Amino acid sequence: MSLRKRIVSQFEHPRGLLGRLVGLILSGRGSNLKRNRWTVEQLALQPGEAVLEVGCGPGVALELCLSQRGVRAVGVDHSALMIAQASRRNARAVKEGRVRLIEGTVEAIPAGLGPFDKMFSINVIQFVDRPAFVARAKALVKPGGMLATTYQPRHAKATRADAVKMADELTALLTQAGFADVRTRELELKPVPAVCVLARRG
Ligand SMILES: C[S@@+](CC[C@H](N)C(=O)[O-])C[C@H]1O[C@@H](n2cnc3c(N)ncnc32)[C@H](O)[C@@H]1O
Repeated sequence: MSLRKRIVSQFEHPRGLLGRLVGLILSGRGSNLKRNRWTVEQLALQPGEAVLEVGCGPGVALELCLSQRGVRAVGVDHSALMIAQASRRNARAVKEGRVRLIEGTVEAIPAGLGPFDKMFSINVIQFVDRPAFVARAKALVKPGGMLATTYQPRHAKATRADAVKMADELTALLTQAGFADVRTRELELKPVPAVCVLARRG
């Protein structure tokens, strides 16, 4: 496998030396920082709210959530390396007990951790079983709470159409599962726009 392919495959489950490089890209690349910031803005977090991020990577979006007054968070990622990086980035909030970081899969998030006011993921949805993800979201988000799923396709020759296709698939799944106010927002980014599908738990 070429070095490029080996690095790309690391984005699904960063580990080892190449995983560290992926952590640096996720926390330093301009497009990644923009889509993290934009997604957190979509959540419009309020003081006292509890938020869950699935596939938190090095914890950039969690740091933004936790910079808001009175917000508590849980971050889940199946990569031990990403959980370690997210813990370092959010060390103060960890110490204060405002964030809990869990090594595990989206499928395995214990229901006892919720319910959450808001739940989100950024560039994780392409790696998971999407109907199962939507079912877990329904179990973990409070009635009236919000789910935000952001996706910016990054594979070779990705186009805006790939982003729109994912948004359409999620819209159908969420609507079928009884989520309300399902809508898609788009962020102009290079090389391909990002989409965020927002939905309210009915
Ligand atoms: C492309 S990275 C995005 C990280 C972060 N959300 C960001 O935008 O900076 C994908 C992350 O999702 C995690 N991941 C992939 N599949 C997962 C699953 N089934 N459960 C939990 N985490 C998962 C990976 O370990 C990786 O940290």
